[in-house]
Amino acid sequence: MSQWLLEFEDIYYTYPGTTQPALNLLTLRIRKGKRCAVIGQNGCGKTTLFLLANGLYKPQQGSIRYAGKRLKYNRNALIHLRQQVGLVFQNPEQQLIASTVEEDISYGLCNLGLSETAISQRVQQILTQFELISLATKPVHQLSLGQKKRVSLAGVMVLQPTLLLLDEPTAYLDPLHTRQLAQTLDTIHGSGTTILMATHDLEWVYRWADWVFIIDRGKLILEGTPKNVFAQGDFLNQLQLGVPLRFQISSLLDEVDRSMTIEQLKNRIFQILNY
Ligand SMILES: Nc1ncnc2c1ncn2[C@@H]1O[C@H](COP(=O)(O)OP(=O)(O)O)[C@@H](O)[C@H]1O
Ligand SMILES: [Mg+2]
Repeated sequence: MSQWLLEFEDIYYTYPGTTQPALNLLTLRIRKGKRCAVIGQNGCGKTTLFLLANGLYKPQQGSIRYAGKRLKYNRNALIHLRQQVGLVFQNPEQQLIASTVEEDISYGLCNLGLSETAISQRVQQILTQFELISLATKPVHQLSLGQKKRVSLAGVMVLQPTLLLLDEPTAYLDPLHTRQLAQTLDTIHGSGTTILMATHDLEWVYRWADWVFIIDRGKLILEGTPKNVFAQGDFLNQLQLGVPLRFQISSLLDEVDRSMTIEQLKNRIFQILNY
């Protein structure tokens, strides 16, 4: 078996009615079992990549493979693909369709040909895991944004996907909910799910990701471990992405040795903090 779970090769995608490609010969591979982050400016193509990965859109050129097999776009193949590749949209309003939490979470399972007992068992289990029992019968429109995001993730995880795609999951979350999400994702990853997340939160990327992809204008322009990627400070600054503070401080501590005077150290700290 190949080490790659998802492979994009020379993918070209242009939205109908536009001339600029959203993805312009993008090549990118996701290794099984990794926590991957994709970063890049707004409009660089992150969301388009996700929509192609679970078959919502079809590329005009290039090939997408999942578990070594080229994607097919007939109904049955897509049902199977979307069970394997779970996508959590940035905006939960786009994701949640049924009227109550419980109905919404059961919705995707109905396509999988499971018995009613099996469906209800899986739903109960996921409601417990995501601490949603008390919200089970609540109308979705009465939930807070954080709760809606949790329900969206639960509705995807109930299908037991092998690859979880998260489009800017920390957007609009407060620090408490961001920490809770980090714990939930640790559990999900710990049980064997590969994760690919689009985010602007570089501090999160530095602490969380095993592998980072940088996309610019529809192309992959850099990839590597967070340490190697963030070491390219000048390049990242040119892209207006910057470098996480945590990384700058840890590199500074690596440099601090007897030859660095206190004056030099102070200057470097002020430089990092932009004083
Ligand atoms: N529905 C759409 N119709 C036309 N153009 C779109 C549509 N969605 C996105 N685009 C364009 O495709 C490019 C990539 O967008 P997107 O994948 O949403 O980027 P990101 O998620 O990185 O912000 C952008 O130039 C954007 O304007
Ligand atoms: Mg986006």
